[in-house]
Parts: sequence; structure tokens; C-alpha cells
Amino acid sequence: LRKVTTKQLRQQKKDREPIAMITAYDYPSAKIADEAGVDIILVGDSVGTTVLGYDSTIPVTIEDILHHTKAVTRGAKRSLVVADLPFATAHLSQDEVLRSATRLMQEGGAYGVKVEGNSGLTSKINSLTTAGIPVMGHIGLTPQSVNQLGGYAYQGKDRDTAKRLLDEAVRIEQAGAFALVLECVPEELGKLITETISIPTIGIGSGKLCDGQVLVFHDLLNFGAAFHPSFVKVYSDLSKIIHEAVRTYVKEVKEKQFPEEKHVRHITEETFDSLYG
Ligand code: KIV
Ligand code: NA
Repeated sequence: LRKVTTKQLRQQKKDREPIAMITAYDYPSAKIADEAGVDIILVGDSVGTTVLGYDSTIPVTIEDILHHTKAVTRGAKRSLVVADLPFATAHLSQDEVLRSATRLMQEGGAYGVKVEGNSGLTSKINSLTTAGIPVMGHIGLTPQSVNQLGGYAYQGKDRDTAKRLLDEAVRIEQAGAFALVLECVPEELGKLITETISIPTIGIGSGKLCDGQVLVFHDLLNFGAAFHPSFVKVYSDLSKIIHEAVRTYVKEVKEKQFPEEKHVRHITEETFDSLYG
């Protein structure tokens, strides 16, 4: 079993072999993703909205990410596991950023971390990579900044913001990142950044021309998601499948159709009689 490495991902970019990435937050989903041939599994802070019931990723803590990372790394044998640094963590002191990332790798078993932010993080990324911590950048729409941005909108649609994102992508590569997530930028900007930098770009809502794609597990499978952004392709309807299964179970319990004879074990008549002494 050959494990995915940052070196392999770089080669995939050169060979124009697309990189498939998906989020996962627990053992069974990580195991399935790994066995399905996913290259990168992200323990995203989207765990906050998909699994923990928050209405944004802001409340997610390092303890939350660590807890889910441990479960994911037990299930992923081949895929490269990246864990998100949660809200504002990357903007704390160099020491604190290093400590958080170290925990995700040493305690959580992650291969590396993802750092979300459109500017001002290059010195932090540099100190992490200097310490041997692989870093994935994340620019464009950065959900941790939703309160500051005022909503979830496409980024880089005009010349100035597009230019700023391109410059930032170059700086993130120079700081030593091994890959870069581009979230919700126009396809043309995704293409330009992908052609400009030599590390792989992973797009979400950023068109067909990035080096790879990422989707949120629960979006792709319609598992509990109340709303899907327009860039999501829903490959299965788990909510419907699970709902029908559980509803049937409830009905069968109430109508005494479950358990059936095959689900039951018996004792001998002799033993039974002896219970009545
Ligand atoms: O948390 C997450 O799911 C992410 C991806 C959308 C890239 O950061
Ligand atoms: Na995230």
C-alpha cells in the first residue's frame, strides 16, 4: 500500500493527473474515502456545520479538530490526512500556531495542516514548514472570516481582488506550502493561479482547471445538509436512504415485526423449565 505524499501530489500536478480530495470527520467515512481512492482527506472545520450543528465554522476549537482527526487517521491507511487549524488559530503568536499544529500531527496523527486566510499568514506558514509541518494554504472564500466578509460570496471577481489573490498564492508557495485550496474564485482566476504556481491547487467552486477538487463529504452525499451551494454535485441521497431505513425500523418495532425469529436466540426447554424451580 503506497501512501500518498506531498511529492506524489506535486508529480500529479506535473502529469496533469487530477487530485481528488474530500472531507471526513470520523472513522467509517475516512475508511470509505481511503478505500475509494481519495488522495487527500481533510478534517475540515466544516465539521462544525456538518456534524456539530453550528451555523458557521467559527465555534470550532482545536480540541474538536483533534478529536475528529484521531478518528479519521485510524481509518485512513493510504490517503494523506490534513487537519484544519480552526478559527483565528493561525493568527495567534508563532508559538501558539506551532503548538496547535504540533498537536494535530503528534496527537492526531495528521500528515499536515491547512491554514485559512487571504493575507498576512506567510510568516506563520514559513515557521510551520521550517519546523517540518506540511502546510496547505486556503484562499478565496474563507469561511472563518464570514462575519468579517458579511456572507459567503465568490472572491476575486474584479481586477484588484483577483490580482491580490494571485499575489497571495505566490507568497504562500514561497512560504513553503505544499498545496493551496482555492474556494469560490472564478474559473479564469483558478486557471491563472494554477498555471502560475508550481504547487498543486485544489478547487472548490473554482472551476474545472485547478489541479484537484475538494468537496465536503456531507454535501456530496446529501447527508443531513440543509442547503447545497451551487458548485456541489450531489452523488447520493443518504438523508433519504437513512430516513427511510430508520422510519421502517420504528414502524417494525411498533408493529412487532422486528425482531424476527432469525434475530433471536433460545435456551433449551429443560433450562427454561428449571428457571421456574
Ligand atoms: O472545512 C472544509 O471543509 C474546507 C474545505 C471546504 C476546503 O476547508
Ligand atoms: Na475549513
